[in-house]
Amino acid sequence: MATTLDISRDLHLDLEGIIGQCVAILGIRGSGKSNTAGVIFEELLRHRYPMSIVDIEGEYFGLKEKYEVLVVGTGDGVEIEIDADCAGEIAQVSMEENVPVVLDLSGFLSDERTELLKAYLSSLWNLAGTLRRPYIIGIEEAHEFIPQGVKNELKEMIARIALRGRKRGLGGIIVSQRSAKVDKDVLSQAGMLFLHRVVHEVDMRVYSELLPWRKNEVKEIVNSLETGDCIYVNGDRILPIYVRERETFHAGFTPSLESVQSPELKKVSESIIEAIERARSGKRRKSAEDELRDRIARLEESLASKDDRIAELEEVARTLGYIKLELPSVVPVLPPSVATPKVEPLPRSSYRPVVVREEPKPVLLDVADPSPAAEVIIESPEEEPLEGLPPAVLRHVDRLVARVGRCELAHRRLLGFLIGHAPGSYSIDQISAWTSCAPEMIEEEPPRELIDAGLICRERRTDGVHYRGTLRTFVNREFEVYQPDIGGTGLHSVTRLLRQQLATLG
Ligand SMILES: Nc1ncnc2c1ncn2[C@@H]1O[C@H](COP(=O)(O)OP(=O)(O)O)[C@@H](O)[C@H]1O
Ligand SMILES: [Mg+2]
Repeated sequence: MATTLDISRDLHLDLEGIIGQCVAILGIRGSGKSNTAGVIFEELLRHRYPMSIVDIEGEYFGLKEKYEVLVVGTGDGVEIEIDADCAGEIAQVSMEENVPVVLDLSGFLSDERTELLKAYLSSLWNLAGTLRRPYIIGIEEAHEFIPQGVKNELKEMIARIALRGRKRGLGGIIVSQRSAKVDKDVLSQAGMLFLHRVVHEVDMRVYSELLPWRKNEVKEIVNSLETGDCIYVNGDRILPIYVRERETFHAGFTPSLESVQSPELKKVSESIIEAIERARSGKRRKSAEDELRDRIARLEESLASKDDRIAELEEVARTLGYIKLELPSVVPVLPPSVATPKVEPLPRSSYRPVVVREEPKPVLLDVADPSPAAEVIIESPEEEPLEGLPPAVLRHVDRLVARVGRCELAHRRLLGFLIGHAPGSYSIDQISAWTSCAPEMIEEEPPRELIDAGLICRERRTDGVHYRGTLRTFVNREFEVYQPDIGGTGLHSVTRLLRQQLATLG
């Protein structure tokens, strides 16, 4: 079998020369572009050259009259229904098994068309990277997909094939009636041109750039072209030719009054259909696997976040292990606004500390604090050991404790309660209820020395006098001189130490 493509009586192309080639067929509607493309496809099919034809108007199924071509698309007349999901698999079968495919896009909306074509072409591109076999992609109405001056994913994909497909054996046949509207970069890659008749000035200008003639010569020659005539350009070789008429049925022919007989079409062999079914079920299997994999990933993610939560809760539980709640179980907690004229002091046994686990340090929970600043003070076991404090500081602490120890018992209790419940502010009645001191006692003999020392403060509110523990502020001021040595942590330790020791004085 000859290895030439017989395009015209005057033009016989070398089959080898077509590998990786970018061919452009231009001309106005009705000038014979599709016929020329059809002739090239026929010649390639005759040589069993693998291909896909992107057929936007459904005019290439007629190739089946003579060749075993698979028509995929949607609606009547297609052999296999295709969508963006399975487009990649069909492209794969086409390239791997050498199945010529007509991708009939006439039944799709433009969005669907774009998605489908992207999937199809990217599959071809990727596969060509590994197979590196001759393969050609014909694209009708190419200006729709590679418009000049517009950027999109599909256009980039087609441009990539035109620009860099050669190394992979990928070639393209670009057909367009709007020369000026086709992307110039892609057009400039066309090593082989079939220039049919054009009339628009802009298209004529494009031809002038492609042909080595003077403008008016170009115009004159191009104007004289009849249907089927074109100028063949390949490098230096420029040849006006008449392209032979297609042998197979041309569905895109210009309608006439003659009745048209639909051709007897060749069926695609069962083995091809089976290959495609295999690819599609493989894809289904793959998507089921993917789904499972996704599910596992999702479950792992949720497991990990649960682990985090468990770790968080364990941390809280560890911390709570050191919390000591000083809550009398039956003590009424009175808001400061509620005046309680008669509150029976509770027996001290009713508000014994509740130790959750061990009692390395007291932690104080201010439940009665009416202010929003109420907080649980948690002493973590990791804190600096009290022994780490310098002797001078410890001596200062001892002196203070001794000084407070000389105060009246009622005041010591009051202090113990307030610093244990800082930063809450409490009415005399509340303090009385919690410390078993009669309110009159506190009223008549206010704890002046403690107030003067700055260990507590007295506040007058609309509902009466309130007291509040201010140990932290006191320590910060009283031990300020030691701060350069003991730092903030040391001051904190002093506060804890004093809180412990002063609480026991009551
Ligand atoms: N080389 C040719 N010889 C005879 N008829 C042709 C030839 N080329 C095209 N035709 C006819 O001209 C009409 C338009 O051709 P077509 O290839 O569909 O044009 P285009 O794709 O440029 O719109 C069709 O009826 C077709 O059969
Ligand atoms: Mg056409």
